[in-house]
Amino acid sequence: MSFFRLSFSMKLEISGQRELSGEIRISGAKNSALPAMAASLLTDELLLENIPMVEDIRSMALLIEGLGGRIKIQKKKNKIKINNNNLKTVEAPYEYVKKMRASILVLGPLLTRFGEARVAYPGGCKIGARPVDLHIENLKRMGAEIRVEHGTIIAKAKDGLKGSRLSFEKVSVTGTENIMMAAVLAEGETIIENAAKEPEVTDLANLLIKMGAKIEGAGTDLIKIKGVKELHPVEYSIIPDRIETGTYLIIGSLIGKELHLYNTIPEHVRSIVLKLNEAGIFLEEGKDSFTVKRAKKILPVDIETQPFPGFPTDMQAQFMVLLTQAEGRSIIRDTIFPGRFHHVDELLRLGANIKKLGNGEVSVMGKTELSGAEVLATDLRASASLVIAALIANGKTIIHDIFHLERGYERLSEKIKKVGGKIKKIK
Ligand code: UD1
Repeated sequence: MSFFRLSFSMKLEISGQRELSGEIRISGAKNSALPAMAASLLTDELLLENIPMVEDIRSMALLIEGLGGRIKIQKKKNKIKINNNNLKTVEAPYEYVKKMRASILVLGPLLTRFGEARVAYPGGCKIGARPVDLHIENLKRMGAEIRVEHGTIIAKAKDGLKGSRLSFEKVSVTGTENIMMAAVLAEGETIIENAAKEPEVTDLANLLIKMGAKIEGAGTDLIKIKGVKELHPVEYSIIPDRIETGTYLIIGSLIGKELHLYNTIPEHVRSIVLKLNEAGIFLEEGKDSFTVKRAKKILPVDIETQPFPGFPTDMQAQFMVLLTQAEGRSIIRDTIFPGRFHHVDELLRLGANIKKLGNGEVSVMGKTELSGAEVLATDLRASASLVIAALIANGKTIIHDIFHLERGYERLSEKIKKVGGKIKKIK
């Protein structure tokens, strides 16, 4: 496997208030690519296309290599070939899992294919408590014996998993994906109630169907899966990243002379577009593209994050920056991760007027002029919000610890530079 360059000690220097104009190609969705890579464990070989070459993909690749998989990355072509015909262990150690919670996605595939899996229990996370109890509870209902010992989830299903009627008490994206992958090779029919409807869940279902799985209802809250004996190798292209699209839509609304985003799926960002419209920002929409320009006046709007098709929690931080430029007071409520507000303190350093109200709510008072400063990237989407703030701030901003950004945004600085931004990585 070829390695990407890590940016642990790297910083990003951005000079703000430069109008952006030109084209940006949206990359493949990280949150689709990760479960797709985990799904490779259900068969011998998978060729995945439109994979964003970001740090989380590298972590998942290392994890699969740790299990004995062989990985070939064609970085420039955004392709990954995974061969799992000779795995040597079913244990995903903490070393990999700690880097990325989505590692839990290998639990369902390993357990259903090999009757056994050991995955380190995912640790805490900057955006708040993120348990995996619902993944475990539903796998148990499918007949797995699961215990947590010395920080490791030890799962066994000697005679294979059994199809069952399951339900998620809370909508969970990776939970739904894990169970769907477990159910495709289980005996009999599995019904998942209150399933996540995110486009990434549907993308995974489409991949699994191409591999030979029998799945109905993905994209609705009731998914039915009939287990099959085995799946076969395929080639599959991942959907575009809706969060990356949303991030550049906000950048364009704030500082775009004319920004054209292509290779996207407008339907996947509908909730974001509707909120932009409510804020007085109108976009030109094509079949797979958007053109966006700086808004003359931004109106305050209230945001509440919800599972898809609601407003995504992964866009909350970026939208907050937009609302610092709205004329009046907006309220943002994150119902999915009520503690996901680490970016607030950093945005305050840049001059924003934001108050934490408790209970997962903040109020944003606009319009405030932002001025460049040194800030710290704390998690992936928080980092994106700092980039947006830096692009509109007066003067220079230095963002520390940009490895968070590189977990999920492919070639962000190159993309922004290409459309006229002044942005560079420094040591
Ligand atoms: C996925 C996304 C992440 C996004 C999140 C919510 C991936 C790789 N990551 O994360 O970018 O922010 O969806 O859209 O796709 N919960 C439980 N018990 C569980 C599982 C979840 O209580 O077993 C809770 C969580 O704490 C949270 C809510 O359910 O409050 C939703 O979380 P979930 O959808 O599971 O998030 P992830 O799948 O981890």
